[in-house]
Amino acid sequence: MKSVDLIGVGMTKFGKHPDETGRDLLVKAMEDAVSHVDKGIDIKKDIKALFVGYFTPELFEHQGHIGTLAAEWLGLSGIPAFRTESACASSSAALATGYWAVASGMYDLVMVSGVEKMTNLDTTGVTDALSIAADNVFELPAGITFPGLFALMAQEYFEKYNGSWEDLQAVTLKNHYNGSLNPKAQFHAEIASIAKKIAVKKGVTFKDDMDFLKSKYNPLVAYPLRLFDCSPISDGASVAFLASSEISNRFTDKPLHVKGVGLGTDTIAVSGRPDLTTSKGTVNAANAAYKMAGVTPDDIDIAEVHDCFTINEVILSEDLGFFERGKGLKGAMEGRTSLSGDKPLNTDGGLKSKGHPVGATGIAMIHEIWLQLRGEAGERQVKGSPKLGLTCNVGGSTASSMVFILERGEK
Ligand code: COA
Repeated sequence: MKSVDLIGVGMTKFGKHPDETGRDLLVKAMEDAVSHVDKGIDIKKDIKALFVGYFTPELFEHQGHIGTLAAEWLGLSGIPAFRTESACASSSAALATGYWAVASGMYDLVMVSGVEKMTNLDTTGVTDALSIAADNVFELPAGITFPGLFALMAQEYFEKYNGSWEDLQAVTLKNHYNGSLNPKAQFHAEIASIAKKIAVKKGVTFKDDMDFLKSKYNPLVAYPLRLFDCSPISDGASVAFLASSEISNRFTDKPLHVKGVGLGTDTIAVSGRPDLTTSKGTVNAANAAYKMAGVTPDDIDIAEVHDCFTINEVILSEDLGFFERGKGLKGAMEGRTSLSGDKPLNTDGGLKSKGHPVGATGIAMIHEIWLQLRGEAGERQVKGSPKLGLTCNVGGSTASSMVFILERGEK
């Protein structure tokens, strides 16, 4: 196996993009990635293959055959190109495929990407489209939705470990604060400033953040999860270039080395699981990635974890080994996962605040690790020169899990 480096990343702002199609968003993300390759890249000459993560272009844009279409729109027509799909982990599937393509020696440089154009549908339509990532025989006939599935996990977690919805707001507040420092975030605002806006508009007052979060302006979505516990409906795209370490110094003197890759699965229907507060897919993926990288959870300086709903950040922080079982919520409440904590999680605002165009999310996580490890994250840069970063992107009810460990390397 050849050693593989990340030599550039890019993404669009996440949010509503009414005037752009998925293919337009991919072009924008690629232009951004090209501008981040320190020594430049000639896309027509250098890129040998393209992998595009997109969960459901059929339902969101009535469009299939995405890989070939993307190659055409990106000016790469002629090269091998196809789509990867693993629900919300679709672009991590593109990243894994790109990694294997370069590590195998088949190609020396590939482009991996992700995109989702969700806002073409209304909330009911999006909920229905996303639901095909759940089990259509054992779950959907019962009327289950993704907010509903993660609400079940929250209920079980609170019961088992004596937590509460109020405790969970540590995650909401942190991720909105981090998002307020990220210009590419869909919600570029802290809870306090969102509350202030609503207070002025509605002529009401809130004593503090918690008073707002408990108010009718943060309505229940699926008990106990409320609006601000949910990731939003978003459009966006993300891109990364992977190169063999043998040639990466042609493009940058500051690549990130892909040190660990781990993938895993659990049952799609959560009724098949003995415990909803963990996923064996994530545990397996994390163990495989740590083993390959030769590191432990304690060695990881920062991580991006799939907070599609606030409870999932807590569950993943335990499945990844950052906290003991049942201690993740306490860790969040103590500020240990904040920008200045010992285990900063979702420094870009996470899916909660940055947005979650599902097919683009995995590589957008890589984008944040790139900025942080290179010391380029601006106002939200974590202190102490982080060296090792991890991403954990999951599909469906954490039924597929993909973990990557990246290391800062100077050449
Ligand atoms: N967090 C905070 N605010 C949100 C929000 C979220 N997740 N989603 C929407 N809003 C805000 C909007 O900006 C809007 O504010 P405005 O009135 O100031 O413009 C307001 O809430 C209403 O927005 P709307 O789009 O009408 O909300 P909705 O009630 O139709 O949808 C959810 C809210 C939570 C149901 C929807 O975002 C959702 O389904 N999220 C989960 C998506 C998902 O399942 N992803 C896959 C995970 S596995």
